[in-house]
Amino acid sequence: MGRRLSVFKSGGILIAMTQYVWMNGKTMPMTDAKVGAEDRGYQFADGVYEVIRIYNGRPFTLSEHLQRLERSCEGVRLGKAFDRQTLARQITQFIEEHGPSEGMVYLQITRGEAPRNHVFPKHWEPTILFYCRPLPAVAPPGTGQGISLHTVADERWHKCWIKSIALLANILAKNEAVDAGADEAVFVDNGLITECSTSNFFAIINHQLVTHRVGPKVLPGITRLVLLQIAREIGLSVAERPLTESEARSASEVFICNTTHELEWVATWDGKALSKQCGPITRQLHEAYVRRVQRETAQAAPLSLANA
Ligand code: PDD
Repeated sequence: MGRRLSVFKSGGILIAMTQYVWMNGKTMPMTDAKVGAEDRGYQFADGVYEVIRIYNGRPFTLSEHLQRLERSCEGVRLGKAFDRQTLARQITQFIEEHGPSEGMVYLQITRGEAPRNHVFPKHWEPTILFYCRPLPAVAPPGTGQGISLHTVADERWHKCWIKSIALLANILAKNEAVDAGADEAVFVDNGLITECSTSNFFAIINHQLVTHRVGPKVLPGITRLVLLQIAREIGLSVAERPLTESEARSASEVFICNTTHELEWVATWDGKALSKQCGPITRQLHEAYVRRVQRETAQAAPLSLANA
């Protein structure tokens, strides 16, 4: 079988590289990384994951991602599946050796292989794997076309604070949005906006930054966390509270955020125009976010690793 190649553009040139995977302590070509038919991630979605952004060849907010991963592991009774500092070192070294300078790390931990049984196995070894993927540059703050949202009923479970690999409800919602000609699905639960299928939701209402608090129905997004820190630094009032669909639809600015896309301003919602351009507060937050990325990833030693 041929080796899987990762193709990306650098300075107008297409570069093809063998794609490597780190799996249970070993680095191997993607085509050699196999899990058993009875891996519990494959059979039961019994696992958790992270997506970490790489800028300037360095992982951004690695420490925050690994802290969330620990909480997710506790949430699904995976216990102490990894040592944070060791994993931070392994990821950083892998990026140095095999990673793109702009891209992402996908990291996944499952409860490993065991004879199929709903009851947790007594003895188990996690399957831990991660790999990198190049990403195109995000449009500079305030530019781009703006994205379109499509409303979907929030029928997910009540432990959305866990970054579980059981993403079928999110995937169905995302595809419903795409089939309707939109970019992202926004979940509405009893008239309240929770979050989106792969991102957190923000609105500017009366000059205040409003977003649903994290918990049963909202993932504690790392981009969200950084943005709330930035908002407080620049003196922007913040409210973490439920917001109704109708107040969100009449907000002066609406945007969504996640690790891979940073901030994206919303232009249309269920086919109705919301805004012709990116709002000034969204732009200010995004500019500050980009400055923070530069500050943290341009240093000699990755800050996140030092803190991990
Ligand atoms: N998803 N909410 C959901 C449901 C998400 O899946 C994500 C990210 C976020 C934003 O989290 P963060 O800022 O930490 O990326 C919120 C990732 C990108 C994914 O599944 O690919």
